[in-house]
Amino acid sequence: MPKVEQALPAERSGDMSRVKKPQVWCYYSIPIYWRTAGGDFVLLKEPGEFLRDRLGSEMELPEDLFVLKRDKAEAIPEVQEGLNAELIASIAGDDVARVKGLIADIVEETFSEPRAANMVPLKNTVKTVVTGYAGRREALRRLAMMGTKDYSTVIHSVNVSALVLGYCAHRGMEPEASADLGLSGLLHDVGKLFVDNEILTAQRKLTPEEFEKVREHPSLGHRFLQDAEFPPEVLEACLQHHERIDGGGYPKGTSLPSFAGQLVGVIDCYEALTSDERHYREALDPLPTLELLKKEMQDGKFERQLFKDFAYSLV
Ligand SMILES: [Fe+2]
Ligand SMILES: [Fe+2]
Repeated sequence: MPKVEQALPAERSGDMSRVKKPQVWCYYSIPIYWRTAGGDFVLLKEPGEFLRDRLGSEMELPEDLFVLKRDKAEAIPEVQEGLNAELIASIAGDDVARVKGLIADIVEETFSEPRAANMVPLKNTVKTVVTGYAGRREALRRLAMMGTKDYSTVIHSVNVSALVLGYCAHRGMEPEASADLGLSGLLHDVGKLFVDNEILTAQRKLTPEEFEKVREHPSLGHRFLQDAEFPPEVLEACLQHHERIDGGGYPKGTSLPSFAGQLVGVIDCYEALTSDERHYREALDPLPTLELLKKEMQDGKFERQLFKDFAYSLV
């Protein structure tokens, strides 16, 4: 149980982390504070209760809610669980925008405290999507292609995962195998959490040193995920999604990347080209993107059948 302080002075703001609205109802084991007009933090709810118990259903939710950064990691499983329950309801209600927002919130919350063990339950989230959208490939495609105002590694990962699941549905794969591959899509870029955000979001040409840093993300992510129990596909996709079968990729330049590495690799390219990642160029439409990737496939970068199946999974 975390140590509870009734009030914290404004000077402690560096220790606090702002809580987003959907998450706030899920916190149970850690205290929540609200920031007064004077900037101090006052205890709003104690550990061992939900905010709803404290506020009742009538009271309005105060703005500016915070938790202590040091408490956050402990609460991640309960946030994952709470948002997952909402996810099930939103999928049933066919609210694709809400579904996308919820998955992004779950992933963002999980990525905010990067501990490998906390990433494992994301498989439940992917499984929820697999089961909820079973037989509805068009919903997965809508999920992947729905634009959001802030394009980020999280949104990119959610999109890649949805496209991977669309591919799995097209191939008629079993739910368990689909969930493993979907999780691979969700976690493939987790190594970027360890690359300076300034470099990742830079709207300019990177220096050779910065470029090298970015190219470390597959190895960084792979090393990080090894601390927990993941299906082999997840580790392979993380390490190998920038490898190409002509040996021209990185980090190792292997010409024999695993299936998961190849699948996430081609979908990663497709997603990056069809979204306005980095904002310095226009997003491409699906067809010209597939033309471009087809050329790469003909040049020996991607496996022919895999590329073909992915292209057909979009139809
Ligand atoms: Fe990557
Ligand atoms: Fe990626």
